[in-house]
Amino acid sequence: MKQDMIVILDLGSTENTVVARQIRELGVYSEIHPHDITAEQLNELPNVKGIILNGGENRVVDGQAVDVDQAVYACGCPVLSIDHPTAKCQQRFAAIPGDEEMKKFVFDICNAEPNWNMKNFIEDQVERIREQVGDKKVLLALSGGVDSSVVAAMLIKAIGQQLVCVHVNHGLMRKNESESVVEVFKNQLHANLIYVDAVERFLGKLENVADPEQKRKIIGGEFIRVFEEEARKLEGIDFLGQGTIYPDIIESGTKTAKMVKSHHNVGGLPEDLKFELVEPLKQLFKDEVRACGVELGLPESMVYRQPFPGPGLGVRCLGAITRDRLEAVRESDAILREEFEKAGLNKKVWQYFTVVPDFKSVGVKNNARCFDYMVIIRAINTVDAMSATIERVDWDVLQRITDRILAEVGNVCRVCYDMSPKPPATIEFE
Ligand code: XMP
Repeated sequence: MKQDMIVILDLGSTENTVVARQIRELGVYSEIHPHDITAEQLNELPNVKGIILNGGENRVVDGQAVDVDQAVYACGCPVLSIDHPTAKCQQRFAAIPGDEEMKKFVFDICNAEPNWNMKNFIEDQVERIREQVGDKKVLLALSGGVDSSVVAAMLIKAIGQQLVCVHVNHGLMRKNESESVVEVFKNQLHANLIYVDAVERFLGKLENVADPEQKRKIIGGEFIRVFEEEARKLEGIDFLGQGTIYPDIIESGTKTAKMVKSHHNVGGLPEDLKFELVEPLKQLFKDEVRACGVELGLPESMVYRQPFPGPGLGVRCLGAITRDRLEAVRESDAILREEFEKAGLNKKVWQYFTVVPDFKSVGVKNNARCFDYMVIIRAINTVDAMSATIERVDWDVLQRITDRILAEVGNVCRVCYDMSPKPPATIEFE
């Protein structure tokens, strides 16, 4: 293994990620693990040089104070504790130590080398994946999103043709998105890729369904069914690759922290389809996932793309989805993205997209009355997606986008700009 590692054990701190990032910024790889990791599991982790017991306000779970397996103290690594009452460690702090004190622990006491970088991380993960998978096969749902794309590239590097990728085109992808997944993964990286055209199936199920939650349920549920059908056609698959990243784990709740929201990529598969998970990104933060993707050779457009919700354009074609409005969303979104890129806004604005409501308004085209749809442009900035402010897009840029949408997108006679912050408006409309 290339990298040394400091292990952070979560004993109820709300700041595990702060400590993990602090150590990585010192150039040393760090991983966060639950407090009840056994000494054996700890010994199986590669190159552990030191352990940090990170206590805090969630230390008491169900009336019981959590503690570590006492054998952890005997595993031979120096132990530092933060806000955790133990006498058996080399160093104790009441709060997160400053950089100088942390450096002393990491380099002087643990003798760790500052060898954390993406190249070494990838080499180590490739080795760990090969060890875990052996000569077995791994199945992966490849949506084309950042996380699944980076996992795919990592798994291709590690196990090549033993990886089977399934890309489901549910008809709610952005313009040319499915095509670019096939181009990059099948044609350039020679992945074993199964492309499933499920457009008619999804649109059929969604016909006349106007309720947003119902739409989301149908899209999510149908996705699992299509994926399951493909999985059943394949033989000899023991593993499921997942693009889980560290923030997903936090949001789903750790053993000491409460759940924020349920999170799954391909959760919900039936019980008899049991796979062991391969999650090589699960210790990474989003910016590190992107850096990993670039290092693995993925195109920047794929790695630095803006967030895109699982239900895709389905939640931007408001109300009951119709094909003409879905096309209007797709085409106007493509124009918006093109013009934002030309204006350099793609690097500045966190998320931007168009929506098409399910009502028409009166207009005039070619000297005659028309009754056509409306496109709403939304462009927002945020840190954590919990709250957001709108981007004050330059008037000329907005004018150009409007002119192009009105000229190039059928059935549209009006373009509006959404001025609403979150709260009270959410980022998406449904
Ligand atoms: P809202 O609309 O709740 O969105 O303000 C916050 C962020 O989450 C994205 N979003 C989703 N992401 N699956 C996802 O992976 C979803 O179902 C989903 N719904 C919303 C949204 O695009 C925004 O970035």
